[in-house]
Amino acid sequence: MAGGSVLLADDEEKILKTLGRALSEDGHDVVTTPSAVAAQRLLAERSFDLLVIDYLMPQRTGLEVIRELVATTPEGERPAIIMMTAYGTVESAVEAMKLGARDYLQKPFNVDELLVTVRRLLEEQRTRTGLRYLLSERDADFNNYGLVGRSRAVMDVLKRAELVAASRSTVLITGETGTGKELVARAIHARSGQRDMPMIKVNCAAIPDTLLESELFGHVRGAFTGASFTKKGRFALADGGTIFLDEIGTISMAVQAKLLRVLQDREFEPLGAERTQKVDVRVIAATSRDLRQMVAAEKFQEDLYYRLNVIPIVLPALRERREDIPMLVDHFLRRFARDSGKRIEDVEQSLMAELERYDWPGNVRELENTIERAVVLATGPHLTRETLWLMGAPSAPASGLPTMRLHANLEWAERETIRRAL
Ligand SMILES: Nc1ncnc2c1ncn2[C@@H]1O[C@H](COP(=O)(O)OP(=O)(O)OP(=O)(O)O)[C@@H](O)[C@H]1O
Ligand SMILES: [Mg+2]
Repeated sequence: MAGGSVLLADDEEKILKTLGRALSEDGHDVVTTPSAVAAQRLLAERSFDLLVIDYLMPQRTGLEVIRELVATTPEGERPAIIMMTAYGTVESAVEAMKLGARDYLQKPFNVDELLVTVRRLLEEQRTRTGLRYLLSERDADFNNYGLVGRSRAVMDVLKRAELVAASRSTVLITGETGTGKELVARAIHARSGQRDMPMIKVNCAAIPDTLLESELFGHVRGAFTGASFTKKGRFALADGGTIFLDEIGTISMAVQAKLLRVLQDREFEPLGAERTQKVDVRVIAATSRDLRQMVAAEKFQEDLYYRLNVIPIVLPALRERREDIPMLVDHFLRRFARDSGKRIEDVEQSLMAELERYDWPGNVRELENTIERAVVLATGPHLTRETLWLMGAPSAPASGLPTMRLHANLEWAERETIRRAL
Protein backbone atom coordinates (compact mmCIF):
# COMPACT_ATOMS: atom_id res chain seq x y z
CA MET A 1 0.00 0.00 0.00
CA ALA A 2 1.30 3.45 -0.79
CA GLY A 3 1.58 5.79 2.15
CA GLY A 4 -0.27 9.05 2.51
CA SER A 5 0.42 12.50 3.83
CA VAL A 6 -0.54 12.72 7.47
CA LEU A 7 -0.80 15.66 9.83
CA LEU A 8 -0.41 14.56 13.43
CA ALA A 9 -1.30 17.01 16.20
CA ASP A 10 -0.86 16.25 19.88
CA ASP A 11 0.45 18.48 22.66
CA GLU A 12 2.25 15.63 24.40
CA GLU A 13 5.72 15.61 22.87
CA LYS A 14 6.37 11.99 23.76
CA ILE A 15 3.24 10.72 22.06
CA LEU A 16 3.92 12.98 19.10
CA LYS A 17 7.38 11.51 18.66
CA THR A 18 6.39 7.87 19.10
CA LEU A 19 3.38 8.01 16.80
CA GLY A 20 5.17 10.22 14.29
CA ARG A 21 8.02 7.79 13.97
CA ALA A 22 5.72 4.78 13.71
CA LEU A 23 3.72 6.43 10.94
CA SER A 24 6.89 7.42 9.05
CA GLU A 25 8.25 3.92 9.31
CA ASP A 26 4.98 2.65 7.95
CA GLY A 27 5.61 4.64 4.78
CA HIS A 28 3.66 7.82 5.42
CA ASP A 29 4.76 11.34 4.89
CA VAL A 30 4.21 12.81 8.36
CA VAL A 31 4.08 16.36 9.66
CA THR A 32 3.80 16.71 13.42
CA THR A 33 2.80 19.66 15.56
CA PRO A 34 2.15 20.08 19.27
CA SER A 35 -0.17 23.03 18.69
CA ALA A 36 -3.79 23.16 17.57
CA VAL A 37 -3.26 26.65 16.19
CA ALA A 38 -0.30 25.50 14.13
CA ALA A 39 -2.36 22.56 12.92
CA GLN A 40 -5.01 24.97 11.69
CA ARG A 41 -2.43 27.01 9.87
CA LEU A 42 -0.93 23.93 8.24
CA LEU A 43 -4.36 22.72 7.14
CA ALA A 44 -5.00 26.06 5.50
CA GLU A 45 -1.64 26.08 3.78
CA ARG A 46 -1.44 22.67 2.18
CA SER A 47 -3.44 19.53 1.71
CA PHE A 48 -3.17 16.31 3.68
CA ASP A 49 -4.73 12.93 3.12
CA LEU A 50 -5.27 12.40 6.80
CA LEU A 51 -5.49 14.40 10.01
CA VAL A 52 -4.83 12.64 13.32
CA ILE A 53 -5.63 15.04 16.12
CA ASP A 54 -5.81 14.96 19.90
CA TYR A 55 -8.99 16.13 21.55
CA LEU A 56 -7.54 18.04 24.45
CA MET A 57 -4.89 20.57 23.59
CA PRO A 58 -4.10 24.00 25.06
CA GLN A 59 -5.52 27.04 23.25
CA ARG A 60 -7.97 25.07 21.14
CA THR A 61 -9.53 21.61 21.26
CA GLY A 62 -9.18 19.11 18.46
CA LEU A 63 -12.91 19.37 18.04
CA GLU A 64 -12.66 23.07 17.29
CA VAL A 65 -9.98 22.41 14.69
CA ILE A 66 -12.20 19.81 13.07
CA ARG A 67 -15.19 22.13 13.18
CA GLU A 68 -13.29 24.88 11.42
CA LEU A 69 -11.85 22.49 8.85
CA VAL A 70 -15.30 21.17 8.02
CA ALA A 71 -16.72 24.66 7.78
CA THR A 72 -14.02 25.98 5.47
CA THR A 73 -13.19 23.03 3.22
CA PRO A 74 -15.56 21.10 0.97
CA GLU A 75 -15.76 17.40 1.66
CA GLY A 76 -13.90 16.31 -1.43
CA GLU A 77 -10.91 18.47 -0.51
CA ARG A 78 -10.67 17.54 3.16
CA PRO A 79 -8.35 15.02 4.76
CA ALA A 80 -9.91 12.04 6.48
CA ILE A 81 -9.96 12.70 10.22
CA ILE A 82 -9.13 10.54 13.22
CA MET A 83 -9.60 12.01 16.67
CA MET A 84 -7.69 10.80 19.68
CA THR A 85 -9.20 11.18 23.09
CA ALA A 86 -7.53 10.59 26.42
CA TYR A 87 -10.44 10.60 28.75
CA GLY A 88 -12.71 7.99 27.39
CA THR A 89 -15.27 10.75 27.06
CA VAL A 90 -17.39 9.23 24.40
CA GLU A 91 -19.25 12.51 23.91
CA SER A 92 -16.36 14.34 22.30
CA ALA A 93 -15.67 11.37 20.04
CA VAL A 94 -19.32 11.17 19.06
CA GLU A 95 -19.30 14.89 18.41
CA ALA A 96 -16.22 14.55 16.20
CA MET A 97 -17.79 11.72 14.24
CA LYS A 98 -20.94 13.77 13.77
CA LEU A 99 -18.83 16.56 12.33
CA GLY A 100 -17.30 14.19 9.84
CA ALA A 101 -14.36 12.51 11.59
CA ARG A 102 -14.05 9.00 10.21
CA ASP A 103 -12.83 7.25 13.34
CA TYR A 104 -11.53 7.82 16.86
CA LEU A 105 -8.99 6.17 19.10
CA GLN A 106 -9.18 6.04 22.84
CA LYS A 107 -5.94 6.58 24.69
CA PRO A 108 -4.06 4.61 25.65
CA PHE A 109 -4.00 2.69 22.41
CA ASN A 110 -1.58 0.36 20.77
CA VAL A 111 0.52 1.91 18.00
CA ASP A 112 -0.51 -0.90 15.69
CA GLU A 113 -4.11 0.06 16.22
CA LEU A 114 -3.32 3.49 14.87
CA LEU A 115 -1.37 2.11 11.90
CA VAL A 116 -4.19 -0.22 10.91
CA THR A 117 -6.80 2.53 11.19
CA VAL A 118 -4.65 4.94 9.20
CA ARG A 119 -4.15 2.42 6.41
CA ARG A 120 -7.81 1.61 6.24
CA LEU A 121 -8.88 5.26 6.08
CA LEU A 122 -6.30 6.11 3.44
CA GLU A 123 -7.52 3.20 1.37
CA GLU A 124 -11.12 4.35 1.70
CA GLN A 125 -10.09 7.90 0.94
CA ARG A 126 -8.42 6.79 -2.28
CA THR A 127 -11.41 4.79 -3.38
CA ARG A 128 -13.67 7.73 -2.78
CA THR A 129 -11.42 10.15 -4.61
CA GLY A 130 -11.22 7.74 -7.53
CA LEU A 131 -14.95 7.38 -7.57
CA ARG A 132 -15.55 11.06 -7.37
CA TYR A 133 -13.15 11.62 -10.23
CA LEU A 134 -14.87 8.95 -12.29
CA LEU A 135 -18.25 10.41 -11.50
CA SER A 136 -17.28 13.90 -12.53
CA GLU A 137 -15.68 12.57 -15.71
CA ARG A 138 -18.80 10.61 -16.43
CA ASP A 139 -21.02 13.59 -15.83
CA ALA A 140 -18.90 15.63 -18.16
CA ASP A 141 -18.97 12.96 -20.84
CA PHE A 142 -22.50 11.78 -20.71
CA ASN A 143 -24.65 14.47 -19.24
CA ASN A 144 -23.21 17.37 -21.11
CA TYR A 145 -21.16 15.58 -23.74
CA GLY A 146 -18.09 17.42 -22.50
CA LEU A 147 -19.72 20.56 -23.83
CA VAL A 148 -19.14 23.37 -21.40
CA GLY A 149 -21.36 26.41 -21.31
CA ARG A 150 -24.45 27.81 -19.73
CA SER A 151 -25.75 30.12 -22.43
CA ARG A 152 -29.17 29.60 -23.91
CA ALA A 153 -27.45 28.63 -27.17
CA VAL A 154 -25.42 25.83 -25.60
CA MET A 155 -28.47 24.58 -23.70
CA ASP A 156 -30.42 24.42 -26.95
CA VAL A 157 -27.63 22.57 -28.69
CA LEU A 158 -27.49 20.06 -25.85
CA LYS A 159 -31.23 19.51 -25.91
CA ARG A 160 -31.26 19.01 -29.62
CA ALA A 161 -28.27 16.69 -29.58
CA GLU A 162 -29.96 14.61 -26.92
CA LEU A 163 -33.12 14.23 -29.01
CA VAL A 164 -31.23 13.57 -32.20
CA ALA A 165 -29.07 10.88 -30.59
CA ALA A 166 -32.14 8.71 -30.13
CA SER A 167 -32.94 8.83 -33.87
CA ARG A 168 -31.03 7.84 -37.00
CA SER A 169 -31.72 11.12 -38.77
CA THR A 170 -29.13 12.99 -40.73
CA VAL A 171 -27.68 15.98 -38.89
CA LEU A 172 -26.08 19.11 -40.29
CA ILE A 173 -23.91 21.03 -37.86
CA THR A 174 -22.91 24.54 -38.84
CA GLY A 175 -20.77 27.12 -37.14
CA GLU A 176 -17.55 29.08 -37.49
CA THR A 177 -14.23 27.39 -37.05
CA GLY A 178 -13.53 26.19 -33.52
CA THR A 179 -17.10 26.44 -32.24
CA GLY A 180 -17.29 22.75 -31.30
CA LYS A 181 -18.87 21.09 -34.33
CA GLU A 182 -16.81 17.94 -34.05
CA LEU A 183 -17.36 17.78 -30.31
CA VAL A 184 -21.12 17.83 -30.89
CA ALA A 185 -20.89 15.18 -33.63
CA ARG A 186 -18.95 12.88 -31.33
CA ALA A 187 -21.40 13.53 -28.53
CA ILE A 188 -24.36 12.57 -30.67
CA HIS A 189 -22.70 9.33 -31.69
CA ALA A 190 -21.62 8.56 -28.13
CA ARG A 191 -25.16 8.97 -26.92
CA SER A 192 -26.79 7.02 -29.77
CA GLY A 193 -27.90 3.42 -29.83
CA GLN A 194 -24.96 2.79 -32.19
CA ARG A 195 -22.33 3.98 -29.73
CA ASP A 196 -20.63 0.58 -29.80
CA MET A 197 -20.28 0.77 -33.57
CA PRO A 198 -17.64 2.94 -35.18
CA MET A 199 -17.90 6.62 -35.95
CA ILE A 200 -15.82 7.23 -39.03
CA LYS A 201 -14.63 10.75 -39.72
CA VAL A 202 -13.88 12.05 -43.18
CA ASN A 203 -12.30 15.45 -43.48
CA CYS A 204 -13.55 16.28 -46.96
CA ALA A 205 -11.37 19.37 -47.22
CA ALA A 206 -8.19 17.41 -46.59
CA ILE A 207 -8.71 14.82 -49.32
CA PRO A 208 -8.16 15.83 -52.95
CA ASP A 209 -11.36 15.58 -54.90
CA THR A 210 -10.01 12.89 -57.19
CA LEU A 211 -9.41 10.64 -54.20
CA LEU A 212 -12.47 11.56 -52.17
CA GLU A 213 -14.83 9.36 -54.14
CA SER A 214 -12.78 6.24 -53.60
CA GLU A 215 -12.16 7.20 -49.97
CA LEU A 216 -15.88 7.45 -49.35
CA PHE A 217 -17.13 4.56 -51.43
CA GLY A 218 -14.09 2.36 -51.91
CA HIS A 219 -12.84 0.76 -55.12
CA VAL A 220 -12.07 -2.60 -56.60
CA ARG A 221 -8.71 -3.67 -57.89
CA GLY A 222 -7.99 -2.17 -61.29
CA ALA A 223 -10.74 0.45 -61.01
CA PHE A 224 -8.23 3.10 -61.98
CA THR A 225 -4.51 3.37 -62.56
CA GLY A 226 -2.78 2.65 -59.30
CA ALA A 227 -5.73 0.81 -57.76
CA SER A 228 -3.67 -2.29 -57.11
CA PHE A 229 -5.93 -3.71 -54.45
CA THR A 230 -9.55 -3.60 -53.48
CA LYS A 231 -10.23 -1.01 -50.85
CA LYS A 232 -13.19 -0.57 -48.55
CA GLY A 233 -14.63 2.92 -48.45
CA ARG A 234 -15.45 4.88 -45.33
CA PHE A 235 -19.18 4.36 -45.79
CA ALA A 236 -18.65 0.60 -45.68
CA LEU A 237 -16.40 0.98 -42.63
CA ALA A 238 -19.05 3.02 -40.85
CA ASP A 239 -21.79 0.49 -41.61
CA GLY A 240 -24.00 0.13 -38.57
CA GLY A 241 -22.53 3.28 -37.00
CA THR A 242 -22.01 6.91 -37.91
CA ILE A 243 -20.10 8.66 -40.66
CA PHE A 244 -18.97 12.19 -39.88
CA LEU A 245 -18.48 14.23 -43.04
CA ASP A 246 -16.49 17.25 -41.95
CA GLU A 247 -16.19 20.33 -44.17
CA ILE A 248 -18.94 19.08 -46.42
CA GLY A 249 -19.03 22.46 -48.17
CA THR A 250 -15.81 21.69 -50.01
CA ILE A 251 -16.88 18.64 -52.02
CA SER A 252 -17.23 18.73 -55.81
CA MET A 253 -20.50 18.49 -57.69
CA ALA A 254 -19.60 14.96 -58.84
CA VAL A 255 -19.11 13.65 -55.33
CA GLN A 256 -22.21 15.53 -54.22
CA ALA A 257 -24.30 13.55 -56.68
CA LYS A 258 -23.01 10.27 -55.37
CA LEU A 259 -23.55 11.35 -51.80
CA LEU A 260 -27.12 12.29 -52.58
CA ARG A 261 -27.72 8.77 -53.78
CA VAL A 262 -26.47 7.21 -50.53
CA LEU A 263 -28.65 9.52 -48.53
CA GLN A 264 -31.70 8.75 -50.65
CA ASP A 265 -31.34 5.04 -51.26
CA ARG A 266 -28.81 3.96 -48.65
CA GLU A 267 -26.77 2.27 -51.31
CA PHE A 268 -23.73 2.93 -53.50
CA GLU A 269 -21.25 1.26 -55.81
CA PRO A 270 -17.54 1.21 -55.06
CA LEU A 271 -15.49 2.55 -57.94
CA GLY A 272 -15.22 -0.06 -60.65
CA ALA A 273 -17.61 -2.42 -58.92
CA GLU A 274 -20.61 -3.91 -60.59
CA ARG A 275 -22.40 -4.75 -57.43
CA THR A 276 -24.42 -2.26 -55.45
CA GLN A 277 -23.69 -2.16 -51.76
CA LYS A 278 -26.31 -1.48 -49.08
CA VAL A 279 -25.31 0.52 -46.07
CA ASP A 280 -27.01 1.36 -42.80
CA VAL A 281 -25.28 4.42 -41.47
CA ARG A 282 -26.16 7.67 -39.80
CA VAL A 283 -24.72 10.72 -41.50
CA ILE A 284 -23.55 13.73 -39.54
CA ALA A 285 -22.17 16.52 -41.70
CA ALA A 286 -20.46 19.71 -40.60
CA THR A 287 -19.46 22.89 -42.30
CA SER A 288 -18.32 26.39 -41.54
CA ARG A 289 -19.65 27.60 -44.87
CA ASP A 290 -23.09 28.93 -45.62
CA LEU A 291 -24.53 26.06 -47.65
CA ARG A 292 -27.74 27.91 -48.43
CA GLN A 293 -25.73 30.65 -50.05
CA MET A 294 -23.72 28.03 -51.93
CA VAL A 295 -26.99 26.56 -53.20
CA ALA A 296 -28.05 29.99 -54.41
CA ALA A 297 -24.70 30.34 -56.18
CA GLU A 298 -25.18 26.87 -57.68
CA LYS A 299 -22.10 25.53 -55.97
CA PHE A 300 -24.00 23.06 -53.88
CA GLN A 301 -26.82 20.78 -54.96
CA GLU A 302 -30.11 21.87 -53.54
CA ASP A 303 -31.42 18.29 -53.12
CA LEU A 304 -28.33 17.32 -51.20
CA TYR A 305 -28.66 20.37 -48.99
CA TYR A 306 -32.17 19.38 -47.99
CA ARG A 307 -31.18 15.77 -47.48
CA LEU A 308 -28.39 16.85 -45.16
CA ASN A 309 -30.27 19.54 -43.34
CA VAL A 310 -32.87 17.23 -41.80
CA ILE A 311 -31.85 18.19 -38.28
CA PRO A 312 -29.87 21.43 -38.26
CA ILE A 313 -27.67 22.26 -35.30
CA VAL A 314 -26.20 25.73 -35.30
CA LEU A 315 -23.26 26.56 -33.08
CA PRO A 316 -23.09 30.30 -32.49
CA ALA A 317 -19.74 32.06 -32.45
CA LEU A 318 -18.24 32.51 -29.00
CA ARG A 319 -18.60 36.29 -29.25
CA GLU A 320 -22.35 35.79 -29.49
CA ARG A 321 -22.42 33.91 -26.20
CA ARG A 322 -19.86 35.65 -24.07
CA GLU A 323 -21.53 34.41 -20.89
CA ASP A 324 -19.91 31.02 -21.62
CA ILE A 325 -16.39 32.45 -21.50
CA PRO A 326 -15.76 32.33 -17.71
CA MET A 327 -16.96 28.75 -17.52
CA LEU A 328 -14.81 27.71 -20.47
CA VAL A 329 -11.79 29.51 -19.03
CA ASP A 330 -12.28 27.67 -15.77
CA HIS A 331 -12.72 24.35 -17.56
CA PHE A 332 -9.56 24.69 -19.64
CA LEU A 333 -7.60 26.15 -16.74
CA ARG A 334 -8.31 23.14 -14.59
CA ARG A 335 -7.52 20.74 -17.41
CA PHE A 336 -4.20 22.28 -18.38
CA ALA A 337 -3.17 22.84 -14.77
CA ARG A 338 -3.87 19.20 -14.04
CA ASP A 339 -2.00 18.05 -17.14
CA SER A 340 1.04 20.19 -16.39
CA GLY A 341 1.00 19.51 -12.65
CA LYS A 342 0.92 23.24 -11.94
CA ARG A 343 -1.12 24.64 -9.14
CA ILE A 344 -3.13 27.47 -10.60
CA GLU A 345 -6.15 28.56 -8.70
CA ASP A 346 -7.80 31.38 -10.55
CA VAL A 347 -7.78 34.10 -13.12
CA GLU A 348 -7.27 37.69 -12.14
CA GLN A 349 -10.43 39.74 -12.48
CA SER A 350 -9.04 42.21 -15.00
CA LEU A 351 -7.72 39.42 -17.22
CA MET A 352 -11.08 37.66 -17.14
CA ALA A 353 -12.79 40.91 -18.10
CA GLU A 354 -10.45 41.18 -21.05
CA LEU A 355 -11.04 37.61 -22.11
CA GLU A 356 -14.76 38.28 -22.00
CA ARG A 357 -14.39 41.37 -24.14
CA TYR A 358 -12.24 39.84 -26.83
CA ASP A 359 -13.90 38.77 -30.08
CA TRP A 360 -12.37 35.30 -30.45
CA PRO A 361 -12.32 34.84 -34.21
CA GLY A 362 -10.99 31.32 -33.60
CA ASN A 363 -13.78 30.70 -31.08
CA VAL A 364 -13.45 28.02 -28.40
CA ARG A 365 -10.33 26.54 -29.95
CA GLU A 366 -8.57 29.89 -29.75
CA LEU A 367 -9.67 30.30 -26.14
CA GLU A 368 -8.43 26.80 -25.38
CA ASN A 369 -5.01 27.56 -26.91
CA THR A 370 -4.81 30.87 -25.07
CA ILE A 371 -5.42 29.24 -21.70
CA GLU A 372 -2.95 26.47 -22.45
CA ARG A 373 -0.32 29.07 -23.22
CA ALA A 374 -1.15 31.09 -20.13
CA VAL A 375 -0.79 28.01 -17.95
CA VAL A 376 2.60 27.23 -19.48
CA LEU A 377 3.76 30.78 -18.82
CA ALA A 378 2.22 31.18 -15.38
CA THR A 379 4.69 31.48 -12.52
CA GLY A 380 2.26 31.75 -9.61
CA PRO A 381 -1.14 30.47 -8.54
CA HIS A 382 -3.01 33.27 -10.34
CA LEU A 383 -3.28 33.92 -14.04
CA THR A 384 -2.74 37.62 -14.53
CA ARG A 385 -2.87 40.03 -17.42
CA GLU A 386 0.90 40.14 -17.21
CA THR A 387 1.08 36.42 -17.92
CA LEU A 388 -0.32 37.11 -21.35
CA TRP A 389 1.39 40.45 -21.86
CA LEU A 390 4.72 38.75 -21.48
CA MET A 391 3.96 37.11 -24.77
CA GLY A 392 5.08 40.31 -26.41
CA ALA A 393 2.42 42.95 -26.02
CA PRO A 394 3.74 45.86 -23.94
CA SER A 395 0.16 46.81 -23.17
CA ALA A 396 -2.73 44.71 -24.27
CA PRO A 397 -5.30 46.89 -25.96
CA ALA A 398 -8.72 46.79 -24.39
CA SER A 399 -10.28 46.21 -27.79
CA GLY A 400 -8.75 42.82 -28.22
CA LEU A 401 -5.74 40.63 -27.86
CA PRO A 402 -4.06 40.71 -31.25
CA THR A 403 -0.67 39.67 -29.93
CA MET A 404 -2.22 36.65 -28.32
CA ARG A 405 -3.47 35.59 -31.69
CA LEU A 406 -0.12 36.18 -33.21
CA HIS A 407 1.43 33.86 -30.71
CA ALA A 408 -1.28 31.26 -30.86
CA ASN A 409 0.72 29.58 -33.58
CA LEU A 410 4.01 29.54 -31.78
CA GLU A 411 5.63 26.19 -31.86
CA TRP A 412 5.94 24.39 -28.60
CA ALA A 413 9.71 24.74 -28.59
CA GLU A 414 9.47 28.48 -28.97
CA ARG A 415 7.01 28.66 -26.14
CA GLU A 416 9.31 26.65 -23.96
CA THR A 417 12.18 28.97 -24.78
CA ILE A 418 10.10 31.92 -23.71
CA ARG A 419 9.04 30.15 -20.55
CA ARG A 420 12.60 29.41 -19.61
CA ALA A 421 13.62 32.98 -20.26
CA LEU A 422 11.06 34.29 -17.80
N1 LIG B 1 -18.56 24.04 -25.51
C1 LIG B 1 -17.33 23.52 -25.42
N2 LIG B 1 -16.89 23.04 -24.26
C2 LIG B 1 -15.65 22.53 -24.13
N3 LIG B 1 -14.77 22.45 -25.14
C3 LIG B 1 -15.14 22.92 -26.33
C4 LIG B 1 -16.44 23.46 -26.54
N4 LIG B 1 -16.53 23.83 -27.83
C5 LIG B 1 -15.37 23.53 -28.39
N5 LIG B 1 -14.52 22.97 -27.52
C6 LIG B 1 -13.14 22.56 -27.78
O1 LIG B 1 -12.61 23.46 -28.74
C7 LIG B 1 -11.84 22.79 -29.72
C8 LIG B 1 -12.44 22.98 -31.08
O2 LIG B 1 -13.66 22.26 -31.17
P1 LIG B 1 -14.07 21.43 -32.48
O3 LIG B 1 -12.91 20.76 -33.09
O4 LIG B 1 -15.25 20.58 -32.13
O5 LIG B 1 -14.52 22.66 -33.38
P2 LIG B 1 -15.00 22.68 -34.89
O6 LIG B 1 -16.21 23.53 -34.92
O7 LIG B 1 -15.08 21.31 -35.42
O8 LIG B 1 -13.82 23.50 -35.58
P3 LIG B 1 -13.34 23.50 -37.14
O9 LIG B 1 -14.43 24.12 -37.93
O10 LIG B 1 -12.12 24.35 -37.10
O11 LIG B 1 -13.07 22.08 -37.49
C9 LIG B 1 -11.81 21.34 -29.28
O12 LIG B 1 -10.65 21.10 -28.54
C10 LIG B 1 -13.04 21.20 -28.42
O13 LIG B 1 -12.89 20.17 -27.49
MG1 LIG C 1 -13.90 20.43 -36.93
